[in-house]
Amino acid sequence: MSATPHGLAANAAAHTHNRLHVVLTSVIAALAGLLFGLDIGVISGALPFIARQFHVSDQGQEWIVSSMMVGAALGALGSGWMAKAIGRKYSLMIGAALFACASGLCAFAPNPEMLIAGRVLLGLAVGIASFTAPLYLSEIAPPNMRGAMISLHQLMVTVGILAAFLSNTAFSGAGDWRWMLGVIAFPALALLIGLIFLPRSPRWLMSRGRNEEAAKVLERLRSDSKAVDTEMREIADQLKVEFQGWGLFFSNPNFRRSVWLGVLLQVMQQLTGINVVMYYAPRIFGLAGYGTAHDQLWGTVIVGVVNVAATFIAIGLVDRWGRKPILYTGFTVMALALASLGGLLHMGVTSGASQMIAVAMLLLFIAGFAMSAGPMIWILCAEIQPIKGRDFGIAASTFVNWVANTIAGATFLTLLNTLGHAQTFWLYAAMNAAFILLTFWLIPETKGASLEKIERNLMAGRALRQLGE
Ligand code: BGC
Repeated sequence: MSATPHGLAANAAAHTHNRLHVVLTSVIAALAGLLFGLDIGVISGALPFIARQFHVSDQGQEWIVSSMMVGAALGALGSGWMAKAIGRKYSLMIGAALFACASGLCAFAPNPEMLIAGRVLLGLAVGIASFTAPLYLSEIAPPNMRGAMISLHQLMVTVGILAAFLSNTAFSGAGDWRWMLGVIAFPALALLIGLIFLPRSPRWLMSRGRNEEAAKVLERLRSDSKAVDTEMREIADQLKVEFQGWGLFFSNPNFRRSVWLGVLLQVMQQLTGINVVMYYAPRIFGLAGYGTAHDQLWGTVIVGVVNVAATFIAIGLVDRWGRKPILYTGFTVMALALASLGGLLHMGVTSGASQMIAVAMLLLFIAGFAMSAGPMIWILCAEIQPIKGRDFGIAASTFVNWVANTIAGATFLTLLNTLGHAQTFWLYAAMNAAFILLTFWLIPETKGASLEKIERNLMAGRALRQLGE
């Protein structure tokens, strides 16, 4: 490295260029999050029109909604293996291609059965993306940008949901559910093309003994050759101890604890009830007295905007407040908002004022989620796994995210019909209240703790909630 003024300027330029490279690479990879979000968002707008055209029962509708999540759970499970065998980049490309094809299939489905089959395939793609993209992001980002990159992924999820809500609204005039479902093939194709230009994960390359290629990739992504050498040495060290997966799960009780904690975190995230709102928002607006499809779809757009906006609160606070205070706040807000919404439905939403309060409570709930459990759970799930079992632990928690998502999506209308409207929201309120206690008992504060420290505490058998201390 040259110390002359000219040399320093050249180094600074190279540094900026490399940072830009990391950001661009990350943005393209995080687009996978956009697909995740598009798929979550699209169905709420399309469902009422699909139900009308094919005369689908409530139970049939639950199947149309949850078939995607079943596929996603399977996709997340299989992608651990695929991301190892063919690498992160090509896994993502397969995910994007599958996504585009499956969107087409859904758009042309002649009957509900074909639609469900198309949505299972779509789910496979989303499952692959939701496991592989955060993994790839964490492997190409320099350590000091890792948290931000995982948050970027969640932000893209919320942007995807909003984009889907907007597109639903645009196509709703003509009741055109086929376009709603089909149009998301275009961002998938854009992702596919973008992915061609991305480097392979340096960590994956080294795990295959392709060290020279890994060095070339890192040279483009890091500030200087010293950083590249250090990182390559670290990766090589980590790869030496790596005996992941089931072997470690069965042999090491401490690793089992972090796997279960990841699973619990994702169950908690889904049982907040977030996706009940994402999938059935128009229906909920209907319960709150907004009868027309037009009102309901614009209502979902506002939900989407609040979801994106409140995610920024989390990004701003996560490294200052820490994970636990944010989770306490979020679960409290969600419990109160849902309890009030249930109360309003119980009394009957008849006046204009009560309608407005019901909508305000729904939006408060969304804000409570987006500023807390939305990003926080994904961050914690990535932080608590020891390096040897990272892929396995994250695959397990991502799988459970989709299983719990399926259960919530597949039972909401049944709950409404059997428990009653108010009681269903009270049930979700009670769960959020219980999560405040679980956060206290079991969740560690990882703010400012290095991953090595968390791992040392885990392996030394310290209580889960003390892992970050
Ligand atoms: C969750 C999704 C949810 C989304 C809402 C994500 O963190 O995993 O299930 O739909 O947030 O923004």
